[in-house]
Order: sequence, then structure tokens, then C-alpha cells
Amino acid sequence: MKDIDRSEITPEHLFLSRRKFMLGAAALAGAALLPGCGDRGGGSNTQTTVSPGPVGATTDELGQALTSFEAVTGYNNFYEFTVDKDSVADLARDFATRPWTVEVAGLVARPQVLPIDELLAEFPERERIYRMRCVEAWSMVIPWLGFPLRLLLDQVVPQPQARYVRFVAIDAPERLPGQRKYSFDWPYTEGLRLDEAMNDLTLIATGLYGKQLLPQNGAPLRLVVPWKYGFKSIKSIVRIELVQDRPATFWSSSAPHEYGFYANVNPEVDHPRWSQKSERRIGETGRRDTLPFNGYGEEVAGLYEGMDLRKDF
Ligand code: MTE
Repeated sequence: MKDIDRSEITPEHLFLSRRKFMLGAAALAGAALLPGCGDRGGGSNTQTTVSPGPVGATTDELGQALTSFEAVTGYNNFYEFTVDKDSVADLARDFATRPWTVEVAGLVARPQVLPIDELLAEFPERERIYRMRCVEAWSMVIPWLGFPLRLLLDQVVPQPQARYVRFVAIDAPERLPGQRKYSFDWPYTEGLRLDEAMNDLTLIATGLYGKQLLPQNGAPLRLVVPWKYGFKSIKSIVRIELVQDRPATFWSSSAPHEYGFYANVNPEVDHPRWSQKSERRIGETGRRDTLPFNGYGEEVAGLYEGMDLRKDF
């Protein structure tokens, strides 16, 4: 996967002004637990005034077309706001993402508390076009901006006992209606094995479609792990912690028989309630075959050698 440096894809004045870009701003009881990925059609009914910025390419490396900016920013899973995908953008419109700090801590030699703008200045953004496959069998192709998580982890210097990375999302019920409404075990948390976290594909995303991330997509920064189901890509991160033991995660704790820790995209392992063999690409009709590791097997299959991925789903 080739990086495109952001300055190569954006005229200088847009690149500079991006730094100043200001963000414009079902109760589950009785229902089967879903990570918000119900397949109810694409598109958007939001009136977002933000338009896409320039991107370096119009397809991914397999020649698959980008999903529209409107669908990427208008059809979202973000339970801290609502379980209704078409309403997240509206509810998140005025969600303030400044000030914001990210703490990188735990089993590291150099723990840090980084104000978001320092972090953005330190790690230049590059564009990565990734497929995103939701566990409920729909998918998108998204041009992200961001940087490999590995760069940040190298900077804090993991200690030898560190084997996993735990991610914690924002916990602010006064600003997040879903945290008041749904009785999940907030905050949303996720985890990766350290070698997964260090893989070059694992991205901290800070933008998409050439623009700063909007709140509905997890501003100011989120994880993107393209060979795993979308729920691993935790949004609005406030803490990254290096730990020794496999951490509990939001979905694998909520419904352990349905959502595993690894959550690698795998057409051979069905969800207990539906097939994972195919998927619907948002914006297209018909279905596509789901690819092992979402098409990134060459880069990541080696991470799981010797494991039984039916058991360790
Ligand atoms: N992160 C947080 N904090 N809260 C969430 O509800 N939903 C996850 C993931 N990250 C979620 C989250 C799920 S189920 C998916 S499929 C993706 O975000 C969706 O990302 P998108 O809305 O940018 O497409």
C-alpha cells in the first residue's frame, strides 16, 4: 500500500487552511445486540455543508470505486450519539472536538499527554484508501487521512512486557445522548495485539476525503484497522494504553458469542445470525464476495499463523 503525502494531493493554501478548519460545527432492551451495523440502505438525509476535499485517487488498489462523501459522512455507527445511522451526523453536528487531549500510557518508557493539535503537527497526514467491512455485511471504500499508529507507539517506547494495546473512547454523557440512553458498559473500548497495532496498515485517522474528520466519523482521531470488522475501528479516542493482558472490549464484552476479540474479516466464519460470505457495497446494487482479511491477507495473514481463526474469531 503506497502512501500519498498529503501535501502532494492538496494545493498549499488548502493544506494550510485545513489547520484552521473549524468543525462547523430504540432502546436496545429486548433487541438483539448489534454493533450498529444494521443494513438499512446507504445514502444520507443530512444537510451537511462540508464538501469533500481533493483526494489522490478515485479507486482503491483493487480498482474499487470510492464510496461517496455523502454516504461516508451521513451513514454512521456511533452509539454514543444514537443507534440510528441516518441521525448520527445531525446529532453530532455541534460536538466540540477542541480542546482534546490523547493520553498514551501504561507499559511505556515515555508516557505522554498530547493536545490534539500538537499530535497533528507531529505526525504528517498521508492518504490511505481502505475498504471498510462492517460485521453486518455492508462495506464502503474510504479515502482516509492519517498516520500509522506504529509511529506514535515508537515514540512512547513500549516496555518488553507490553503485549496488547487498549483504546478508550470519550466518556461524556452530558454531551453524548447515547451514553445517557443506552445501558452499555461505557466508554467504548477496543484492543489490538501489539504486533497488529504495529502493522503498517493500522492507521490513526484524522481526516477523510481530504478534510479534517467530522464528529460523526470519530473526530478528532480514530483507529482504522482495515482487515477487521468495522467495530474494531474505535472513534474519538482519548486514551491509548499499553498493557500485558488481553483487554476487555466493548462488543466482545457485550455479546461474546457474536463478537470476538480478533474480529478479522472472514467469509468462512459466519456470524451466529447471518452469513459473512458476501456484502453490500454502499451505493451499489447487488452483492460482492467478502474477501479473507477484507483483501489485505498478503499484509496481515502472517500475524495469525498457527491460530485457529474459527475459534479465535
Ligand atoms: N467507535 C465508537 N466510539 N462508538 C461506536 O459506536 N461504532 C463502530 C466503529 N467505531 C463505534 C465506533 C462501528 S460498529 C463501525 S462499523 C464503525 O465505527 C463505523 O465507522 P463510520 O461511521 O465512520 O463508517
